[in-house]
Amino acid sequence: MNTPPAQLIIFGITGDLARKKLLPALEHLAQNHLLPEPFEIIGVTRQNIQPADLIGPESALTPLLSVVTLDMTDPADYVRLKATLDAGEAQHGVCMNRLIYLSIPPNTYAPVVELLGQAGLNAPCPHGTGAARLMVEKPFGYDLTSAQELIQQLTQTFAEDQIYRIDHYLAKETAQNILTFRFANPIFQAVWDRRSVRRVTITASEVIGIEGRAAFYEPIGALRDLIQSHLLQLLALVTMEQPAEMGAPHIHAAKLKLLKSIKPIPPNQIAIQATRGQYQGYRDEVKNPDSTTETFARLNLAVDNDRWQGVPIVLQTGKRLDRKTTEITLEFGEAPNINILTLRIQPNEGIIIDLQAKKPGFDDQTQMVEMEFNYKNSFGPDAHPDAYERVLVDGLRGDQSLFATSAEVLASWAVIEPILREWTKDDEGLITYEPGTSPAELE
Ligand code: BG6
Repeated sequence: MNTPPAQLIIFGITGDLARKKLLPALEHLAQNHLLPEPFEIIGVTRQNIQPADLIGPESALTPLLSVVTLDMTDPADYVRLKATLDAGEAQHGVCMNRLIYLSIPPNTYAPVVELLGQAGLNAPCPHGTGAARLMVEKPFGYDLTSAQELIQQLTQTFAEDQIYRIDHYLAKETAQNILTFRFANPIFQAVWDRRSVRRVTITASEVIGIEGRAAFYEPIGALRDLIQSHLLQLLALVTMEQPAEMGAPHIHAAKLKLLKSIKPIPPNQIAIQATRGQYQGYRDEVKNPDSTTETFARLNLAVDNDRWQGVPIVLQTGKRLDRKTTEITLEFGEAPNINILTLRIQPNEGIIIDLQAKKPGFDDQTQMVEMEFNYKNSFGPDAHPDAYERVLVDGLRGDQSLFATSAEVLASWAVIEPILREWTKDDEGLITYEPGTSPAELE
Protein backbone atom coordinates (compact mmCIF):
# COMPACT_ATOMS: atom_id res chain seq x y z
CA MET A 1 0.00 0.00 0.00
CA ASN A 2 1.33 3.45 -0.89
CA THR A 3 1.76 6.06 1.81
CA PRO A 4 0.92 9.58 0.59
CA PRO A 5 3.50 12.40 0.76
CA ALA A 6 3.98 13.54 4.34
CA GLN A 7 5.78 15.68 6.85
CA LEU A 8 6.36 14.11 10.25
CA ILE A 9 6.87 16.68 12.97
CA ILE A 10 8.31 15.22 16.18
CA PHE A 11 8.09 17.40 19.28
CA GLY A 12 10.74 16.24 21.75
CA ILE A 13 13.19 14.94 19.15
CA THR A 14 16.03 14.85 21.70
CA GLY A 15 14.02 12.85 24.24
CA ASP A 16 14.34 9.22 25.21
CA LEU A 17 11.45 7.93 23.16
CA ALA A 18 12.56 9.67 19.97
CA ARG A 19 16.12 8.41 20.29
CA LYS A 20 15.33 4.88 21.44
CA LYS A 21 12.18 4.09 19.47
CA LEU A 22 11.10 6.65 16.87
CA LEU A 23 14.35 7.36 15.03
CA PRO A 24 15.37 3.67 14.93
CA ALA A 25 11.89 2.76 13.66
CA LEU A 26 12.12 5.46 10.96
CA GLU A 27 15.61 4.32 10.02
CA HIS A 28 14.38 0.78 9.54
CA LEU A 29 11.39 1.95 7.51
CA ALA A 30 13.69 4.07 5.33
CA GLN A 31 16.01 1.13 4.70
CA ASN A 32 13.03 -0.96 3.63
CA HIS A 33 11.58 1.80 1.42
CA LEU A 34 8.40 1.95 3.46
CA LEU A 35 8.33 5.71 3.97
CA PRO A 36 6.22 8.08 1.87
CA GLU A 37 7.68 9.98 -1.06
CA PRO A 38 8.31 12.80 -0.71
CA PHE A 39 8.83 12.68 3.04
CA GLU A 40 10.30 15.05 5.61
CA ILE A 41 11.02 14.58 9.31
CA ILE A 42 11.09 17.82 11.25
CA GLY A 43 12.49 17.36 14.73
CA VAL A 44 11.33 20.02 17.15
CA THR A 45 13.31 20.90 20.26
CA ARG A 46 14.19 23.80 22.44
CA GLN A 47 17.86 22.88 22.10
CA ASN A 48 20.14 24.20 19.46
CA ILE A 49 21.29 20.99 17.82
CA GLN A 50 21.99 19.60 14.38
CA PRO A 51 20.39 16.53 12.77
CA ALA A 52 23.84 14.91 12.80
CA ASP A 53 23.71 14.99 16.62
CA LEU A 54 20.71 12.68 16.49
CA ILE A 55 21.58 10.17 13.79
CA GLY A 56 24.75 8.46 12.64
CA PRO A 57 26.72 9.68 9.58
CA GLU A 58 25.55 6.73 7.47
CA SER A 59 21.91 7.11 8.40
CA ALA A 60 19.24 6.64 5.73
CA LEU A 61 17.46 9.51 7.47
CA THR A 62 20.17 12.09 6.66
CA PRO A 63 18.38 13.55 3.61
CA LEU A 64 15.03 13.54 5.42
CA LEU A 65 15.70 14.99 8.86
CA SER A 66 15.88 18.66 9.78
CA VAL A 67 15.63 20.34 13.18
CA VAL A 68 13.56 23.36 14.17
CA THR A 69 14.42 25.08 17.44
CA LEU A 70 11.24 26.10 19.20
CA ASP A 71 10.17 27.45 22.57
CA MET A 72 7.03 25.47 23.33
CA THR A 73 5.41 28.46 25.03
CA ASP A 74 6.08 31.05 22.32
CA PRO A 75 3.26 31.47 19.75
CA ALA A 76 5.62 33.15 17.27
CA ASP A 77 7.74 29.99 17.12
CA TYR A 78 4.74 27.97 15.97
CA VAL A 79 4.11 30.45 13.17
CA ARG A 80 7.76 30.01 12.19
CA LEU A 81 7.34 26.25 12.27
CA LYS A 82 4.35 26.51 9.95
CA ALA A 83 6.35 28.69 7.56
CA THR A 84 9.09 26.02 7.49
CA LEU A 85 6.54 23.31 6.72
CA ASP A 86 4.83 25.41 4.04
CA ALA A 87 8.21 26.13 2.43
CA GLY A 88 9.06 22.39 2.37
CA GLU A 89 5.73 21.67 0.78
CA ALA A 90 6.18 24.41 -1.83
CA GLN A 91 9.58 22.99 -2.69
CA HIS A 92 8.11 19.55 -3.34
CA GLY A 93 5.15 21.04 -5.18
CA VAL A 94 2.63 18.65 -3.60
CA CYS A 95 0.23 18.81 -0.71
CA MET A 96 1.77 16.80 2.12
CA ASN A 97 -0.03 15.20 5.05
CA ARG A 98 1.16 16.52 8.40
CA LEU A 99 1.57 14.16 11.31
CA ILE A 100 2.50 15.92 14.54
CA TYR A 101 3.92 13.53 17.11
CA LEU A 102 4.00 14.78 20.70
CA SER A 103 6.87 12.98 22.38
CA ILE A 104 6.78 15.42 25.29
CA PRO A 105 5.43 15.26 28.87
CA PRO A 106 1.63 14.82 28.90
CA ASN A 107 1.14 17.93 31.05
CA THR A 108 2.39 20.00 28.10
CA TYR A 109 -0.05 18.51 25.56
CA ALA A 110 -2.88 21.00 26.12
CA PRO A 111 -0.86 24.24 25.86
CA VAL A 112 1.17 22.96 22.89
CA VAL A 113 -1.96 21.84 21.05
CA GLU A 114 -3.60 25.20 21.63
CA LEU A 115 -0.62 27.00 20.07
CA LEU A 116 -0.55 24.53 17.18
CA GLY A 117 -4.16 25.47 16.53
CA GLN A 118 -3.48 29.20 16.73
CA ALA A 119 -0.76 28.84 14.11
CA GLY A 120 -3.09 26.87 11.82
CA LEU A 121 -1.16 23.64 12.22
CA ASN A 122 -4.35 21.68 12.86
CA ALA A 123 -5.44 22.18 9.25
CA PRO A 124 -4.18 20.48 6.10
CA CYS A 125 -2.52 22.43 3.33
CA PRO A 126 -5.04 24.84 1.81
CA HIS A 127 -4.53 23.88 -1.82
CA GLY A 128 -4.97 20.12 -1.75
CA THR A 129 -6.43 17.11 -0.03
CA GLY A 130 -3.86 16.57 2.70
CA ALA A 131 -4.62 15.79 6.33
CA ALA A 132 -3.28 17.18 9.61
CA ARG A 133 -3.02 14.61 12.38
CA LEU A 134 -1.91 14.60 15.99
CA MET A 135 -0.24 11.60 17.61
CA VAL A 136 0.06 11.39 21.38
CA GLU A 137 1.59 8.95 23.82
CA LYS A 138 -0.05 7.61 26.95
CA PRO A 139 -0.83 8.35 29.74
CA PHE A 140 -4.01 10.08 28.61
CA GLY A 141 -4.82 11.72 31.88
CA TYR A 142 -4.17 10.69 35.43
CA ASP A 143 -7.70 9.60 36.31
CA LEU A 144 -11.16 9.77 34.82
CA THR A 145 -11.63 13.51 35.42
CA SER A 146 -8.24 14.58 34.09
CA ALA A 147 -8.68 12.31 31.05
CA GLN A 148 -12.02 13.98 30.34
CA GLU A 149 -10.38 17.39 30.65
CA LEU A 150 -7.50 16.45 28.37
CA ILE A 151 -9.84 15.03 25.74
CA GLN A 152 -11.92 18.17 25.89
CA GLN A 153 -8.84 20.38 25.53
CA LEU A 154 -7.36 18.48 22.59
CA THR A 155 -10.64 18.16 20.71
CA GLN A 156 -11.05 21.94 20.71
CA THR A 157 -8.20 22.01 18.21
CA PHE A 158 -8.10 18.57 16.57
CA ALA A 159 -11.20 16.51 15.74
CA GLU A 160 -11.45 12.96 17.08
CA ASP A 161 -10.59 11.53 13.66
CA GLN A 162 -7.39 13.61 13.60
CA ILE A 163 -6.13 12.30 16.97
CA TYR A 164 -4.05 9.13 17.19
CA ARG A 165 -3.64 7.93 20.78
CA ILE A 166 -0.88 5.39 20.83
CA ASP A 167 -1.15 2.18 22.76
CA HIS A 168 1.96 0.48 21.50
CA TYR A 169 0.69 -2.92 22.65
CA LEU A 170 -2.02 -2.77 20.01
CA ALA A 171 0.68 -2.39 17.37
CA LYS A 172 2.48 -5.56 18.42
CA GLU A 173 1.98 -8.13 15.68
CA THR A 174 0.64 -10.79 18.04
CA ALA A 175 -1.93 -8.40 19.47
CA GLN A 176 -3.12 -7.66 15.96
CA ASN A 177 -3.34 -11.36 15.27
CA ILE A 178 -5.83 -11.88 18.12
CA LEU A 179 -8.75 -10.86 15.92
CA THR A 180 -7.67 -12.96 12.95
CA PHE A 181 -7.02 -15.92 15.17
CA ARG A 182 -10.42 -15.61 16.85
CA PHE A 183 -12.59 -14.78 13.87
CA ALA A 184 -10.91 -16.59 10.97
CA ASN A 185 -10.66 -19.96 12.70
CA PRO A 186 -14.03 -21.68 13.20
CA ILE A 187 -12.49 -24.16 15.63
CA PHE A 188 -11.77 -21.37 18.12
CA GLN A 189 -14.88 -19.33 17.45
CA ALA A 190 -16.91 -22.31 18.60
CA VAL A 191 -15.36 -22.46 22.08
CA TRP A 192 -14.76 -18.78 22.80
CA ASP A 193 -17.30 -18.24 25.59
CA ARG A 194 -18.37 -19.09 29.11
CA ARG A 195 -19.56 -22.58 28.16
CA SER A 196 -16.00 -23.68 27.40
CA VAL A 197 -13.62 -21.13 28.92
CA ARG A 198 -13.02 -21.48 32.65
CA ARG A 199 -10.74 -18.48 33.13
CA VAL A 200 -8.98 -15.76 31.14
CA THR A 201 -5.67 -14.42 32.42
CA ILE A 202 -3.63 -11.59 30.94
CA THR A 203 -0.13 -11.22 32.33
CA ALA A 204 2.48 -8.57 31.56
CA SER A 205 5.51 -9.20 33.70
CA GLU A 206 8.78 -7.34 33.45
CA VAL A 207 12.23 -8.04 34.87
CA ILE A 208 13.28 -4.41 34.72
CA GLY A 209 12.38 -1.97 37.45
CA ILE A 210 11.57 1.65 36.84
CA GLU A 211 14.93 2.29 35.17
CA GLY A 212 15.60 5.63 36.80
CA ARG A 213 12.19 7.01 35.82
CA ALA A 214 11.21 7.84 39.41
CA ALA A 215 9.55 11.14 38.56
CA PHE A 216 7.40 9.44 35.93
CA TYR A 217 6.55 6.28 37.83
CA GLU A 218 6.05 7.38 41.43
CA PRO A 219 2.76 9.23 40.78
CA ILE A 220 1.61 6.61 38.26
CA GLY A 221 2.08 3.01 39.47
CA ALA A 222 1.33 -0.26 37.73
CA LEU A 223 -2.44 0.10 37.58
CA ARG A 224 -2.28 3.29 35.55
CA ASP A 225 0.90 2.45 33.64
CA LEU A 226 -0.05 -0.96 32.26
CA ILE A 227 -3.58 -1.98 33.23
CA GLN A 228 -5.54 1.16 32.32
CA SER A 229 -3.98 1.13 28.89
CA HIS A 230 -2.32 -1.97 27.51
CA LEU A 231 -4.01 -4.76 29.45
CA LEU A 232 -7.56 -3.49 29.16
CA GLN A 233 -7.00 -3.03 25.44
CA LEU A 234 -5.77 -6.62 25.13
CA LEU A 235 -8.75 -7.79 27.16
CA ALA A 236 -11.09 -5.95 24.81
CA LEU A 237 -9.53 -7.65 21.78
CA VAL A 238 -9.70 -11.07 23.35
CA THR A 239 -13.27 -10.89 24.64
CA MET A 240 -15.15 -8.47 22.36
CA GLU A 241 -17.87 -9.55 19.97
CA GLN A 242 -17.03 -9.94 16.30
CA PRO A 243 -17.09 -6.51 14.66
CA ALA A 244 -19.52 -6.08 11.77
CA GLU A 245 -16.49 -5.36 9.54
CA MET A 246 -12.75 -5.21 10.15
CA GLY A 247 -12.44 -1.43 9.64
CA ALA A 248 -11.49 1.00 12.42
CA PRO A 249 -15.02 2.25 13.34
CA HIS A 250 -16.39 -1.27 13.81
CA ILE A 251 -13.39 -2.50 15.79
CA HIS A 252 -13.58 0.57 18.02
CA ALA A 253 -17.30 0.09 18.59
CA ALA A 254 -16.85 -3.56 19.56
CA LYS A 255 -13.97 -2.77 21.94
CA LEU A 256 -15.90 0.06 23.56
CA LYS A 257 -18.95 -2.12 24.12
CA LEU A 258 -16.80 -4.70 25.86
CA LEU A 259 -14.96 -2.16 28.03
CA LYS A 260 -18.29 -0.76 29.14
CA SER A 261 -19.54 -4.19 30.11
CA ILE A 262 -16.73 -4.80 32.62
CA LYS A 263 -18.35 -4.84 36.05
CA PRO A 264 -17.03 -2.11 38.33
CA ILE A 265 -15.52 -3.61 41.48
CA PRO A 266 -17.60 -2.41 44.47
CA PRO A 267 -15.49 -0.59 47.11
CA ASN A 268 -16.06 -3.32 49.71
CA GLN A 269 -14.74 -5.96 47.29
CA ILE A 270 -11.54 -4.17 46.31
CA ALA A 271 -9.45 -5.75 49.05
CA ILE A 272 -10.55 -9.16 47.74
CA GLN A 273 -10.55 -8.58 44.00
CA ALA A 274 -7.52 -6.31 43.66
CA THR A 275 -3.97 -7.08 44.81
CA ARG A 276 -1.06 -4.68 44.92
CA GLY A 277 2.63 -5.09 45.65
CA GLN A 278 5.85 -3.12 45.65
CA TYR A 279 9.28 -4.57 45.02
CA GLN A 280 11.93 -4.37 47.71
CA GLY A 281 14.26 -1.48 47.05
CA TYR A 282 11.67 0.61 45.22
CA ARG A 283 11.37 3.16 48.02
CA ASP A 284 15.14 3.77 47.99
CA GLU A 285 15.08 4.11 44.24
CA VAL A 286 12.42 6.82 44.31
CA LYS A 287 13.86 8.31 47.52
CA ASN A 288 10.48 8.16 49.24
CA PRO A 289 10.52 5.94 52.36
CA ASP A 290 6.70 6.15 52.59
CA SER A 291 5.89 5.45 48.97
CA THR A 292 2.75 3.36 48.48
CA THR A 293 3.05 3.26 44.71
CA GLU A 294 2.34 -0.24 43.45
CA THR A 295 4.83 -1.89 41.12
CA PHE A 296 2.62 -4.97 40.89
CA ALA A 297 -1.14 -5.05 40.40
CA ARG A 298 -3.67 -7.80 39.86
CA LEU A 299 -7.38 -7.34 39.21
CA ASN A 300 -10.01 -10.05 39.25
CA LEU A 301 -12.65 -8.77 36.91
CA ALA A 302 -15.91 -9.95 35.44
CA VAL A 303 -17.56 -9.12 32.16
CA ASP A 304 -21.29 -8.65 32.40
CA ASN A 305 -22.55 -10.06 29.12
CA ASP A 306 -23.94 -13.28 27.81
CA ARG A 307 -20.66 -14.53 26.39
CA TRP A 308 -18.56 -14.08 29.54
CA GLN A 309 -21.00 -14.12 32.45
CA GLY A 310 -19.37 -15.95 35.39
CA VAL A 311 -15.90 -16.35 33.84
CA PRO A 312 -13.11 -15.01 36.09
CA ILE A 313 -10.91 -12.56 34.22
CA VAL A 314 -7.51 -11.83 35.73
CA LEU A 315 -5.26 -8.96 34.67
CA GLN A 316 -1.83 -8.81 36.28
CA THR A 317 1.33 -6.86 35.77
CA GLY A 318 4.47 -6.00 37.61
CA LYS A 319 8.05 -4.84 37.48
CA ARG A 320 11.09 -6.70 38.87
CA LEU A 321 9.37 -10.05 38.44
CA ASP A 322 10.94 -13.33 37.40
CA ARG A 323 10.61 -12.89 33.62
CA LYS A 324 9.72 -10.64 30.76
CA THR A 325 6.56 -11.94 29.23
CA THR A 326 3.21 -10.71 28.00
CA GLU A 327 0.68 -13.44 27.42
CA ILE A 328 -3.01 -14.18 27.41
CA THR A 329 -4.17 -17.59 28.56
CA LEU A 330 -7.57 -19.18 28.25
CA GLU A 331 -8.20 -22.26 30.36
CA PHE A 332 -10.65 -24.88 29.20
CA GLY A 333 -12.19 -27.75 31.15
CA GLU A 334 -11.80 -28.96 34.73
CA ALA A 335 -8.69 -30.46 36.32
CA PRO A 336 -7.21 -32.92 35.56
CA ASN A 337 -8.58 -32.63 32.02
CA ILE A 338 -7.68 -29.12 31.12
CA ASN A 339 -6.37 -27.39 28.03
CA ILE A 340 -4.60 -24.07 28.09
CA LEU A 341 -4.47 -21.81 25.09
CA THR A 342 -1.72 -19.19 25.31
CA LEU A 343 -1.49 -16.18 23.04
CA ARG A 344 2.09 -15.12 23.59
CA ILE A 345 2.37 -11.42 22.78
CA GLN A 346 6.09 -11.33 23.61
CA PRO A 347 8.81 -12.55 23.60
CA ASN A 348 9.00 -15.57 21.31
CA GLU A 349 5.69 -14.55 19.77
CA GLY A 350 3.26 -17.32 19.05
CA ILE A 351 0.24 -19.34 20.02
CA ILE A 352 0.47 -22.48 22.10
CA ILE A 353 -2.09 -25.07 23.08
CA ASP A 354 -1.41 -27.36 26.00
CA LEU A 355 -2.99 -30.73 25.37
CA GLN A 356 -3.26 -33.94 27.33
CA ALA A 357 -1.50 -36.81 25.61
CA LYS A 358 -0.97 -40.42 26.50
CA LYS A 359 2.62 -41.06 27.39
CA PRO A 360 4.14 -43.62 25.03
CA GLY A 361 4.49 -47.03 26.58
CA PHE A 362 2.41 -49.70 28.21
CA ASP A 363 1.11 -47.61 31.12
CA ASP A 364 -1.96 -45.45 30.87
CA GLN A 365 -0.30 -42.24 31.99
CA THR A 366 -1.13 -38.85 30.52
CA GLN A 367 1.15 -35.88 30.14
CA MET A 368 0.70 -32.25 29.09
CA VAL A 369 2.24 -31.58 25.69
CA GLU A 370 2.47 -28.40 23.66
CA MET A 371 1.22 -27.66 20.18
CA GLU A 372 2.86 -24.50 19.03
CA PHE A 373 2.62 -21.91 16.31
CA ASN A 374 5.69 -19.72 16.40
CA TYR A 375 6.04 -16.55 14.30
CA LYS A 376 9.73 -17.04 13.67
CA ASN A 377 9.32 -20.60 12.42
CA SER A 378 6.34 -19.79 10.21
CA PHE A 379 7.28 -16.39 8.88
CA GLY A 380 11.04 -16.03 9.37
CA PRO A 381 13.10 -14.12 11.95
CA ASP A 382 12.36 -10.59 10.68
CA ALA A 383 8.75 -11.20 9.86
CA HIS A 384 7.12 -8.65 12.05
CA PRO A 385 7.78 -4.94 12.22
CA ASP A 386 8.51 -3.19 15.48
CA ALA A 387 5.39 -1.74 17.12
CA TYR A 388 6.61 1.83 16.56
CA GLU A 389 7.15 1.20 12.86
CA ARG A 390 3.55 0.12 12.65
CA VAL A 391 2.31 3.08 14.68
CA LEU A 392 4.14 5.57 12.45
CA VAL A 393 3.08 4.01 9.17
CA ASP A 394 -0.56 3.77 10.25
CA GLY A 395 -0.50 7.40 11.37
CA LEU A 396 1.03 8.46 8.07
CA ARG A 397 -1.60 6.48 6.16
CA GLY A 398 -4.48 7.63 8.33
CA ASP A 399 -5.54 4.23 9.64
CA GLN A 400 -6.93 4.55 13.17
CA SER A 401 -7.66 0.86 13.81
CA LEU A 402 -4.75 0.34 16.19
CA PHE A 403 -5.26 3.50 18.22
CA ALA A 404 -7.48 4.02 21.24
CA THR A 405 -10.46 6.34 20.88
CA SER A 406 -11.33 8.87 23.56
CA ALA A 407 -14.42 6.83 24.49
CA GLU A 408 -12.26 3.71 25.01
CA VAL A 409 -9.79 5.66 27.12
CA LEU A 410 -12.59 6.96 29.34
CA ALA A 411 -14.19 3.52 29.65
CA SER A 412 -10.83 2.12 30.81
CA TRP A 413 -10.39 4.85 33.38
CA ALA A 414 -13.90 4.12 34.64
CA VAL A 415 -12.90 0.49 35.30
CA ILE A 416 -9.91 1.37 37.46
CA GLU A 417 -11.22 4.58 39.05
CA PRO A 418 -12.78 2.90 42.16
CA ILE A 419 -9.55 0.99 42.79
CA LEU A 420 -7.39 4.08 42.40
CA ARG A 421 -9.60 5.85 44.90
CA GLU A 422 -9.32 3.04 47.42
CA TRP A 423 -5.57 2.58 46.98
CA THR A 424 -4.74 6.24 47.50
CA LYS A 425 -6.41 6.17 50.93
CA ASP A 426 -3.73 4.10 52.68
CA ASP A 427 -1.28 1.24 52.15
CA GLU A 428 -3.53 -1.53 53.42
CA GLY A 429 -2.73 -4.81 51.71
CA LEU A 430 0.38 -3.52 49.93
CA ILE A 431 2.66 -6.56 49.67
CA THR A 432 6.42 -6.11 49.56
CA TYR A 433 8.03 -8.62 47.21
CA GLU A 434 11.56 -9.62 46.40
CA PRO A 435 12.86 -8.92 42.92
CA GLY A 436 12.60 -12.10 40.86
CA THR A 437 9.25 -13.18 42.33
CA SER A 438 6.71 -14.77 39.99
CA PRO A 439 3.18 -13.34 39.76
CA ALA A 440 1.78 -16.63 41.07
CA GLU A 441 3.68 -16.11 44.33
CA LEU A 442 1.93 -12.81 44.92
CA GLU A 443 -1.36 -13.89 46.41
C1 BG6 B 1 5.17 1.29 28.76
C2 BG6 B 1 5.27 1.53 30.24
O1 BG6 B 1 3.94 1.73 28.26
O2 BG6 B 1 5.32 -0.09 28.48
C3 BG6 B 1 6.58 1.00 30.79
O3 BG6 B 1 5.14 2.91 30.52
C4 BG6 B 1 6.77 -0.45 30.38
O4 BG6 B 1 6.62 1.13 32.19
C5 BG6 B 1 6.57 -0.62 28.89
O5 BG6 B 1 8.08 -0.85 30.76
C6 BG6 B 1 6.62 -2.07 28.47
O6 BG6 B 1 6.57 -2.15 27.07
P1 BG6 B 1 7.13 -3.42 26.31
O7 BG6 B 1 6.81 -3.16 24.87
O8 BG6 B 1 8.60 -3.50 26.63
O9 BG6 B 1 6.41 -4.60 26.87
